[in-house]
Amino acid sequence: MNTDPIYIFRKTWATYQKVISNNFMFHREFSTAVSKLLESCPGPLNFLDLGCGDAAHIGKIVSSGQVAEYCGCDLSPHALDVALNNLEQFGIRVKLLCRDMLSVLREAPENHFDVVYSSYALHHLSVEEKQTFFMECRRTLRENGCVILVDVMLEEGEDRPAYLDSYNGAVATQWEALTPYEREQVQEHISNCDFPETPTVYQKLAHNAGLNTCRRLGKKTWHEAWCYQV
Ligand SMILES: C[S@@+](CC[C@H](N)C(=O)[O-])C[C@H]1O[C@@H](n2cnc3c(N)ncnc32)[C@H](O)[C@@H]1O
Repeated sequence: MNTDPIYIFRKTWATYQKVISNNFMFHREFSTAVSKLLESCPGPLNFLDLGCGDAAHIGKIVSSGQVAEYCGCDLSPHALDVALNNLEQFGIRVKLLCRDMLSVLREAPENHFDVVYSSYALHHLSVEEKQTFFMECRRTLRENGCVILVDVMLEEGEDRPAYLDSYNGAVATQWEALTPYEREQVQEHISNCDFPETPTVYQKLAHNAGLNTCRRLGKKTWHEAWCYQV
């Protein structure tokens, strides 16, 4: 068995690109919801994107004029190569780091970012690491800043084995645009790397970090988008 937790992203970005282009994880709907939320933020924004992947949706979430600084980090050099093209419109305000998201977050300056955004990456971390994520987000957020989390989440009362069963079942029956081999790759990744929490657990972790205002921006099956603020 492959022991690299994000093998599918490190080795190739092609399968995940197919997932995104078929909107299997509802990137389109969540990008619209996040973009609407950020319309009301005065900007220009300092934007930190943790586990940015190829940053394909950032241009749909914020316009070039809205961003003062975009810092994205990811462990996959393949994804970051693609991200560089996708972020061309933001010019020299873009910084991309091939590094672990928690170490980037720990080194982020205090009181600096208006938005800490993470889409479909946090579920790779343990619950203790997720707590560190919220604590460090709180430290680096400016006044009125927000954490935006898009991710797979357990239904309340659902446990991980039940989630793996149902999600992998949905991949088998509904992700028909993928080849059988690609579906197998995705299912192996999910079984090894998905450690989702319920929305209630995320709210508790955010609350422990002093982020007491929690708002759901959208939900599509296990896929959810949330905003956390002081
Ligand atoms: C499902 S992709 C999501 C990419 C993009 N944010 C999106 O919404 O499409 C998950 C990404 O998280 C990255 N990742 C996983 N663990 C990470 C970590 N500890 N630090 C940084 N990136 C990580 C993977 O390399 C992958 O690119």
